[in-house]
Amino acid sequence: MQIRLSNTVNNLVESATIKMAQMARDFKSKGHDVISLSLGEPDFDTPGFIIDAAHEAMKSGYTHYTPVPGLVEFREAIVKKLKRDNNLDYDINQIVVSNGAKQCIYNIAQALLDKGDEVVIFAPYWVSYSAIVELTGAKVIGLNSEVQDDYKVTADQLKNALSDKTKFILFSSPCNPTGSVYTKEELGTFAKILEGYPDVLVVSDEIYEYIVFEGEHQSIAQFEQVKHRTIVVNGMSKGFAMTGWRLGYMAAPLPIAKACAKIQGQVTSGATSFGQKAAAIALLTESNEKAKMKAIFKNRRDLMLELMNGIPHMLLNIPNGAFYLFPDVSSAYGKSLNGKSINNSQDLAEALLSEEFVATVAGASFGNDNCIRISYATSENQLIEAAKRIRRFFEKLK
Ligand SMILES: Cc1ncc(COP(=O)(O)O)c(C=O)c1O
Repeated sequence: MQIRLSNTVNNLVESATIKMAQMARDFKSKGHDVISLSLGEPDFDTPGFIIDAAHEAMKSGYTHYTPVPGLVEFREAIVKKLKRDNNLDYDINQIVVSNGAKQCIYNIAQALLDKGDEVVIFAPYWVSYSAIVELTGAKVIGLNSEVQDDYKVTADQLKNALSDKTKFILFSSPCNPTGSVYTKEELGTFAKILEGYPDVLVVSDEIYEYIVFEGEHQSIAQFEQVKHRTIVVNGMSKGFAMTGWRLGYMAAPLPIAKACAKIQGQVTSGATSFGQKAAAIALLTESNEKAKMKAIFKNRRDLMLELMNGIPHMLLNIPNGAFYLFPDVSSAYGKSLNGKSINNSQDLAEALLSEEFVATVAGASFGNDNCIRISYATSENQLIEAAKRIRRFFEKLK
């Protein structure tokens, strides 16, 4: 029998981060000492009080199906959090909880996009944005930005990309993969531009909100011009080290929230019961765990910037958030190592892995082939060793 897969899946690109993690595991299983700087998750375990809350919830009967848009307790906690941290007002019916922010973005794309629609995405962007949008038949309009500009898109670029086909714009701040964080002023200029495009929605992915090093996280939803048409996406994965719990949420205009719940109701139903109960407690409890993790990430960022200093072919911005470096390494293209020539970011990431056993991710999958993504969500010792190997690798290129 010949198994015929759908065109949809045949056209879908494999997640580059997951692919690189698999390659790293393969080298590891062959006995190599691989340092993985490819994954997008905090290396910390979930704080104990959240785990305790999940135990308690399980023991007290939170083991059943949940309402599709989320447990009332969790959605109430999200409404409070959005007011407390972001000064945003939402009704509980505008909140939809999903299996990770990834599913929120998937739901949004499915709820809003038809073939022929356009989505303006700030590049470099998180790998899944383009795949999720393309699954619907809509077109990605990527706005490029480079290391010299701290990987920030300008208001003029945004203006030139908008058209009557644009359904929404989509970006993350803090950004994965660049660590860039848009300031209030910068977001304000985007909101001003959007004033002239009243039918364009904004999808603001704020999942790294709690990992901002200088200044405060800002949401574009604060601006009057776009408040009523912004979908804020956030979740528990990064700020609370809860990646495996699969809990994300969105706050959206009511018809969009309803549409997303409708889709989710047919696909996965409500997210885990005890997880949501614990997540509600995580959002509402005053604890210094988030701040502790942030301080560690900041120390590692500073350490990495110091260690990367002067490595040939490596141009860096100073990332103000998240836990990634996104160096431009394009001046190494055309060089070679042990007979293998390096002509793009995939060649470079693969050579770095096979030569020095350091796993990173090619920038091409984030919409910028000049770069590689280095995650510093690992211990200082690992980072010091990885940096040594990265330096040696670039110095060896001929
Ligand atoms: C920018 C961005 N958005 C969303 C997600 C998805 O997070 P979740 O674990 O909540 O699905 C990630 C995870 O890497 C991310 O980097």
